[in-house]
Amino acid sequence: RAEDGHALWLRYAPLDEATAIAVNARLGPPELFGNSSPMTQAAQSELSRGFDAMLGQSGRGVILARAGQLPGGDSGLAEPLAGLPSGGYRIAQRHDGRVAVVANDDIGLLYGSFALLRHVASGANLDAIDVTSAPALPLRMLDHWDNPDGFVERGYAGRSIFNWWLLPDHLDPRLIDYARANASIGINAVVVNNVNASALMLTPRYIEKLARLADAWRPLGIRVWLSARFSAPRDLGGLSTADPLDPQVRRWWKDKADEIYRAIPDFGGFLVKANSEGQPGPQDYGRTHADGANMLAQALGGRGTVIWRAFVYASGSETDRVKLAYEEFKPLDGKFASNVILQVKNGPLDFQPREPFHPLFGAMPHTRLMLEAQITKEYLGFATHLAFLAPLWAEALGADTGHGEAGRALTVAQTLAQGGMAGVANTGSDRNWTGGHFDQANWYAFGRLAWNPDLSADEIAREWAAQTFSRDPAFTVPVAETMVGSRQAVVDYMTPLGLAHQMGTGHHYGPAPWVSDLSRPEWNPTYYNRADKSGIGFDRTVTGSDALAQYAPSVAVHWADAATMDEDYLLWFHHLQWDYQTQSGRTLWRELVARYDRGVAAVDAMAAQWADLASYVDARRHRDVADFLAIQKREAHWWRDASIAYFGAVCGCDLPPGTRTPA
Ligand code: GCU
Repeated sequence: RAEDGHALWLRYAPLDEATAIAVNARLGPPELFGNSSPMTQAAQSELSRGFDAMLGQSGRGVILARAGQLPGGDSGLAEPLAGLPSGGYRIAQRHDGRVAVVANDDIGLLYGSFALLRHVASGANLDAIDVTSAPALPLRMLDHWDNPDGFVERGYAGRSIFNWWLLPDHLDPRLIDYARANASIGINAVVVNNVNASALMLTPRYIEKLARLADAWRPLGIRVWLSARFSAPRDLGGLSTADPLDPQVRRWWKDKADEIYRAIPDFGGFLVKANSEGQPGPQDYGRTHADGANMLAQALGGRGTVIWRAFVYASGSETDRVKLAYEEFKPLDGKFASNVILQVKNGPLDFQPREPFHPLFGAMPHTRLMLEAQITKEYLGFATHLAFLAPLWAEALGADTGHGEAGRALTVAQTLAQGGMAGVANTGSDRNWTGGHFDQANWYAFGRLAWNPDLSADEIAREWAAQTFSRDPAFTVPVAETMVGSRQAVVDYMTPLGLAHQMGTGHHYGPAPWVSDLSRPEWNPTYYNRADKSGIGFDRTVTGSDALAQYAPSVAVHWADAATMDEDYLLWFHHLQWDYQTQSGRTLWRELVARYDRGVAAVDAMAAQWADLASYVDARRHRDVADFLAIQKREAHWWRDASIAYFGAVCGCDLPPGTRTPA
């Protein structure tokens, strides 16, 4: 199983002898203080699975204790747990030196157990362990863009992992492994179907199937959710309208919710993509997004939550596409019911290798917000290119929105405290789940950051690499360095200096900066690069679309001046002459070429480094990664060559001396 990557980061490879002895000394017979529950059983079974495998012997374990059920001498262990949110835990030594996991609730015991296993599996010993941790964000969710027929939209790892045909009678055991993997990183919510939703998922047959999944995942702390098609009252209910203010429509949704809760008492709620890219929604009836969301929120009542997506852009609109979501949703701040969360993509365009953070973060203080990230790499080379996304997400989460009170910072992560993070899943039925072995790291990193947005990309990369491949620092340190740099490499060879959406039409794989003839202007790469004889870039300052004005003044000021700003966002905000002098002293044209070259060189170095690390990785996975890196190398060159051939022709600029001519 190690060789095909199926075990993910839950491989539990045997420890070296010295570590095994040290770990063993802190363990004893597994013990549970308090009553057993399906969740504590799941925790205990994972602990024995992990420790049996890592220690090469069975029967050693840890103490699990609910705060308040610790024996007298140990009650102090629970003190740091006071006031922690659900899921929080402490791992520490008891008076006798044995390790205990203590929590306020069973889900905390489960998360604490996984954290302890992660600690040991990453190579740390238990001698001075004392870790207290709790989730920063309440909802940590995967959104599957899986259709009921098994096709995964923007999925690059095979068919859907959900076999609806065989459910509810047969539950594929890999769905338990999937839930274990999620629980191990704190994910507590799963939307099982595509936001471009089929109403089929709301039919009684499918509710029964979903209930089987909910029952199987409950012990692992995962609630099921559905993407709901807004027109379902028409599609399924035989009504002539789906107008959210129509009493019959409201009744239909209320009855539907009741039906779901009878089958799944802890059903999470609905995720809705409305009036976006052709999906039905309240605007079809002259109603607002708030009317639509609140109607569904009322149907769910106190039982569940509506997650309403802010990813909207209207056909035929003259406005700069990146401004549309803000224009539509900002005026609705404060108008959503308390069980509605607005889900906003990390950037205002669409999951590009780099975008500035979305201006809605911080701008809707009276609305609960979720950040939507894309784990599947639609715009970053699918499952073939190695691009570790933790740096991308950390960049967004850590950005100061400029909306803090009294000059204090208010980061994007802080605006999510009443919502959470959703990641568009990258799983499929490939043996290794994600297509590329390194794409597992993105699933992992998503969960870790949703738990703690302050974790560094390097830390996450190291713990993932240790659990997945080898604990040897001679391996984890250089691999983590490569991973952390890999996202900037993709930015450089695909869309340097703030360029965006230069990918091939529809599939979004490979360069197409010249495409200008698509039916909707905002789908054209030329719409975004605006390259012509005189210059390149999208003027989003006051002289252009003024998208910059959607940011708080203290933030906007950093992007307003091309001469002083962070050039990673240069052409996102500015249209500049080809001979404009960049901060390096090079002309814009030459700087652009230099960035493409830097990206290509980084991938060449990644491939060479991986070749050097062969002795740390089993032959099969090493070869798989090496093959993929060879593809990435070829395609990084393709991106560079095609892009500079096109831009060079548009500007009539020569290649800088010493540059290899595009093939
Ligand atoms: C992107 C993606 C679509 C998806 C959409 C969304 O545009 O290409 O496949 O449906 O995002 O997030 O709704």
